[in-house]
Amino acid sequence: MEKNNQTCQMNTLLWNHCIPYHPELADLRSSTPVEETENTIGPYHLSEKLGAGNFASVYACQDETKAIKVLLKNTVNTFSSAKRVANEIEGLRRLRLLHEVLHTPTRIGLVMEAGPKDLFAYLDLCPKGVEESMAKSIMFQLLTAIHECHSKGIFHRDIKPENILIAPDRVVLCDFGLCGFAEEAPFREFLGSPGFFAPELLLDPPYQGDKADIWSMGIVLLEMMVGHEMFESLWLFPTFEKDQIVNKKTFQKNMERGLQKIRQVYWFSRPLQDFLGKILVLDPKKRPTIEDLACHPWLTDSPSPALSSFHSSFSSTSTSNSALSSSVVTESSLPPMLPPMLPPMLPPMPSSSFEHSARKVNPHFILF
Ligand SMILES: Nc1ncnc2c1ncn2[C@@H]1O[C@H](COP(=O)(O)OP(=O)(O)O)[C@@H](O)[C@H]1O
Ligand SMILES: [Mg+2]
Repeated sequence: MEKNNQTCQMNTLLWNHCIPYHPELADLRSSTPVEETENTIGPYHLSEKLGAGNFASVYACQDETKAIKVLLKNTVNTFSSAKRVANEIEGLRRLRLLHEVLHTPTRIGLVMEAGPKDLFAYLDLCPKGVEESMAKSIMFQLLTAIHECHSKGIFHRDIKPENILIAPDRVVLCDFGLCGFAEEAPFREFLGSPGFFAPELLLDPPYQGDKADIWSMGIVLLEMMVGHEMFESLWLFPTFEKDQIVNKKTFQKNMERGLQKIRQVYWFSRPLQDFLGKILVLDPKKRPTIEDLACHPWLTDSPSPALSSFHSSFSSTSTSNSALSSSVVTESSLPPMLPPMLPPMLPPMPSSSFEHSARKVNPHFILF
């Protein structure tokens, strides 16, 4: 009861005395709040739930090409959670992914293009991991999407399957709440998700956002290749349990042990082992850049069918979304050395509404 009162007081303090004046929280102020009902925010009707994280739920809007990320104001109680919302608005704006921000008395709605299912949901359908060629397709697209962010001075800092949407012809990153901007680098904040944050965030700050994102991308590749369950035993446990993170030495030892286990996964091809091995090195200075990775034989020694073949095999199972496709990464923005997309081998995604299996280590557990 007392804790509730305290949370309530912090919430009032933040919204009445900090947000109206703090220069970094200007986007959270509203001069003209819109009306709301349980299922509407301003002109938008919230229909199917597309996904949910620890901070927000994302709903399809009635015209289906738009999605609205809904944040409850009463869950934004601290400066860091308010900053997270402000960051997300700024990140989406710089990437031109934000249609509008709506403020109601109790909620904030971020209107953006609706995307398809996230990679975590796809991996639910592949308990033993995906085919290597499929992983290659997704990695190629993921490299491209990350390259696009970095070239605009945005470092995502929370790359994980839950925040990667698998569109018909490309991969789209979502959830920019923890992103950092080039003008703030190098970074010192310890944040991200257990299993996916780069080791230097804890072991050796300050850190560079590009190398941290590349590490997380490598971990995503690992999870894709081995599936959720083996990912947990091979990598998540015990390294990322709360009590193991508090001590840097223990954490480093666990990390080294985990990396050794990964090197022993016998069914990865040699080029894949090499690709992953180059990414997953503790010293970020020794980690390759996106350009280095784009030239790696694992990606370049592949057949290169047209992107359209990927699109057609998804059309029966995903939301077709031309606006999303055009507003994110276009082929012309790829680094020139990246090969075109490979055909997909993901099983079709049932078109039911949002449903996820859960991780044992909370994937949304944010560490500040
Ligand atoms: N534009 C979008 N289109 C479709 N689904 C989305 C979109 N953005 C997010 N999602 C889904 O909603 C989930 C939660 O959104 P996210 O932005 O990650 O919230 P949180 O900040 O709470 O983690 C994501 O994991 C994803 O499945
Ligand atoms: Mg998320």
